[in-house]
Amino acid sequence: MKQESGVRGGKRDFGLATRALHAGGPTTPERENSPPIFLTSSFRFDSAEHAQAVFAGEEEGNVYSRFTNPTVALFETRVAALENAEHAVATASGMAAVTLVFLSFLSAGEHVVISRSVFGSTTNIANTLLKRLNIGVTRVPLADLTAWESAITPDTRMFFLETPANPTLEMVDLAALTRLGRERGILVVVDNVLCTPCLQRPLDLGADLVVHSATKYMDGQGRVLGGVVVGTRDLLMDKVFPMLRNTGPSLSPFNAWVLLKGLETLSLRMERHCDNAEKVAFHLAARDDLTGRVFYPGLPDHPQRELAIRQMRRFGAIVCLDLGSRENAQRFMNALQLAIITANLGDCRTLVTHPATTTHAKLTEAERQAAGITQGLVRLSIGLEDVKDILDDLDAALE
Ligand SMILES: Cc1ncc(COP(=O)(O)O)c(C=O)c1O
Repeated sequence: MKQESGVRGGKRDFGLATRALHAGGPTTPERENSPPIFLTSSFRFDSAEHAQAVFAGEEEGNVYSRFTNPTVALFETRVAALENAEHAVATASGMAAVTLVFLSFLSAGEHVVISRSVFGSTTNIANTLLKRLNIGVTRVPLADLTAWESAITPDTRMFFLETPANPTLEMVDLAALTRLGRERGILVVVDNVLCTPCLQRPLDLGADLVVHSATKYMDGQGRVLGGVVVGTRDLLMDKVFPMLRNTGPSLSPFNAWVLLKGLETLSLRMERHCDNAEKVAFHLAARDDLTGRVFYPGLPDHPQRELAIRQMRRFGAIVCLDLGSRENAQRFMNALQLAIITANLGDCRTLVTHPATTTHAKLTEAERQAAGITQGLVRLSIGLEDVKDILDDLDAALE
């Protein structure tokens, strides 16, 4: 079964960079130094009785890679160690993690409160799958704690949110929201994609579960899809793991291995991502033609800067610009020579996206407006290049 995060290298008194390199390893008697890939669909038993005992849960052991796999388990151990959590369950993608959480904890007739500014596919699931399953959904402005409280009904089982939100970078006071959730017996689930555990640990601030698209910074090099749900052993083993093993959105062992390699450099990369993004945000905000149109939690005019300082270690690596119209936004993107137009974030290369026509295109215009996604909004995922080259590229395209 899954490994503890408290094993050698995963202890809380080690720093994050150390945990990402050592927690849970090595995994075999071969004493390998770098994690091996277990590319196998199933595992052998010594006898029919052994198979029976493992299936009955009387003996520990791997059965089938839809359930558990040693490479995937090591990835889970390391992410749990980074998030200060007891346990983690890996999934095939970030959306698989989000969907698994909804399906594991919500039943027909129950109700979930979701912040307005969440990733487009999460909104699409709320509008389609949850509706079809007769699960009530109320969308609220992320930062408005009174709205969260007013949205609670006797059937509310979950609060679901992203902070900072993709792409608006709006935030909520996590300690206050999780306190409300605890007082009212509501599970609080935080999509922590934009921060990674290097910048923010929602479980330390009272959240019950964290979900990640590991596709983003955990991989960090734009190679594979992956996701993970992190939290207490009880919540994950009682609800999430049985749903995963039966429905099957499991992480491939190969992808888990790639993600393990990504985790090894995560803390180093996040520092450089943040260094570059801070320089980009301040540089753009200083341009007369962009006054008030650059969004980054670290800028002095960001209305939630103090909150970001309180609950995030640094301000992250997403910088957004509002260029006034879709035409301006697309003309600017087409003029960039270095930044790559693609629907992803968290890559080592600087990426640029027009959310209104791509990641959030399936939302209605009203939903986009409520979420703060204007037609002129451009999202920059700042990469690891020499920052002068990023600045020159942005300046040239803006001209
Ligand atoms: C905040 C957020 N959550 C979830 C996802 C979904 O992740 P994946 O593409 O790995 O399914 C994304 C993807 O962009 C995202 O930005």
